[in-house]
Amino acid sequence: MYSILVLHGPNLNLLGQREPGVYGSATLDDINHMLVADAEQFQKEGIPVKVTPFQSNHEGALIDTIQAAMGVHQGIVINPGAYTHTSIAIRDAIAGVAIPTVEVHLSNIHRREAFRQHSYIAPVAIGQISGFGAESYRLGLRAIVAHLQSSAKQ
Ligand code: DQA
Repeated sequence: MYSILVLHGPNLNLLGQREPGVYGSATLDDINHMLVADAEQFQKEGIPVKVTPFQSNHEGALIDTIQAAMGVHQGIVINPGAYTHTSIAIRDAIAGVAIPTVEVHLSNIHRREAFRQHSYIAPVAIGQISGFGAESYRLGLRAIVAHLQSSAKQ
């Protein structure tokens, strides 16, 4: 079973009502339900995938959850929200647990304000998906599953 932890950082609980022109109209629940449905579809195709979503506005809670993923989850999909641009601690947690991680963003952070264009997380992630709205999460889930499958073959 590929168990994937899906982490949502600060303010993502407000999705749907928060700056819909930037982040879209899907709520966090919509996104989580979509990912659970995608995991079920993977299972129907014979690829055992389970997703466990978690959102927090608190850096420490996100770090505790990353640490607790050791030995439980095989992959992480994370939208660190604004912590992307500030948190060496979240970056260190991801590096520390050494669980393959895909970074996702609803908006394209590279075409926004200069302060959003740097990610502390990117250097410890397998890759980054940015700019596809809620679809970024689905692409992130596909990317982590493909990565785990190809690692399993080696
Ligand atoms: C975000 C981009 C960040 O810059 C911002 O602080 C967020 C959301 C995104 O998904 O586009 O909270 O991570």
